[in-house]
Amino acid sequence: QTPKVTARAHTNIALVKYWGKKDEQLIIPQNGSLSLTLDHFYTDTTVCLDDNATQDTFILNGIKMDPTKVTKFMDLIRQQANVSTPAIIESVNHVPTMAGLASSASAYAALALAGSKAYRLELSPKDLSRLARRGSGSACRSIYGGFVEWKKGYDDASSYAVPFIENPTWDIKMIAIVVNGAQKKVASRAGMQTVVNTSPYYPAWIKQAELDLENIKQAILAKDFTKMGQIAESSAMRMHALNLSATPHFNYIEAQSLVAITQVEELRAHGIECYYTMDAGPNVKVICQGKDLQAILAKLKQHFADEQLLVSAAGPGAKIITS
Ligand code: DP6
Repeated sequence: QTPKVTARAHTNIALVKYWGKKDEQLIIPQNGSLSLTLDHFYTDTTVCLDDNATQDTFILNGIKMDPTKVTKFMDLIRQQANVSTPAIIESVNHVPTMAGLASSASAYAALALAGSKAYRLELSPKDLSRLARRGSGSACRSIYGGFVEWKKGYDDASSYAVPFIENPTWDIKMIAIVVNGAQKKVASRAGMQTVVNTSPYYPAWIKQAELDLENIKQAILAKDFTKMGQIAESSAMRMHALNLSATPHFNYIEAQSLVAITQVEELRAHGIECYYTMDAGPNVKVICQGKDLQAILAKLKQHFADEQLLVSAAGPGAKIITS
């Protein structure tokens, strides 16, 4: 009987950012990072061995795609399993259309889990995280739920994510403000490479990121929302400052991103605690506590349409949903 496995993995948003690789091939990062897995956005991926085929088939959201990238990743699994049979890979992204949040993190975490199971590999969570990392660095964190730390390590064996607090009792919410749902202009892979190679500030980034990582872990353990938010906001803005300092310089922040940031700062000036973060695109994510959610949404709705405001809470780790 041909194995057919479906896995679900949720996306994650980094509070201390990963931005730069030491090893491009193996995806070993320059600094450790820490993220929150979200409940609202996820990818479901089914992998089924295809005995009669000569190559993989990849279907994304019902549309047949070029399988080259997926095949490269599946080859890592096939090598370990010592099986050469191609597969049919079907992926559905459960991210509201136009969100522009469709992340490689949930995609490769789901593919690592479904793929390894379909080829009958019994991987530990650590080895699953290492495998997901080979697809996209941030994917190694989506193996776990809640707050997750990516230990940078120094080689393929030592670079993987570990759960920090898998089931936070904290009522933390994240509001994704979709200011522009279009494809990003500079892919994170190319962007971070330019930064590592050319930014004169990069050594300072590495030093600061390691401090941020230690401090945010302490803040989360102490349930110090203020400290956590401040560190997350600074980490994001330093990452964007790196991009402006690269050659050639580039920038993800758009006019509407600044409108969103200004709203958050005004809310804070009025005593409502919230912080922002941004990734390799113009959308702004607001971190807040459940008790303040409605007040924050009310303010944001003065500038953004309902469908531009997507609320998430902490989500679970990757899991098999059918087998
Ligand atoms: C800004 O994980 O997408 O979201 O490893 O090249 O696939 P590759 O990059 P990717 O980069 C994510 C960058 C970020 C910050 C983060 O998630 O830590």
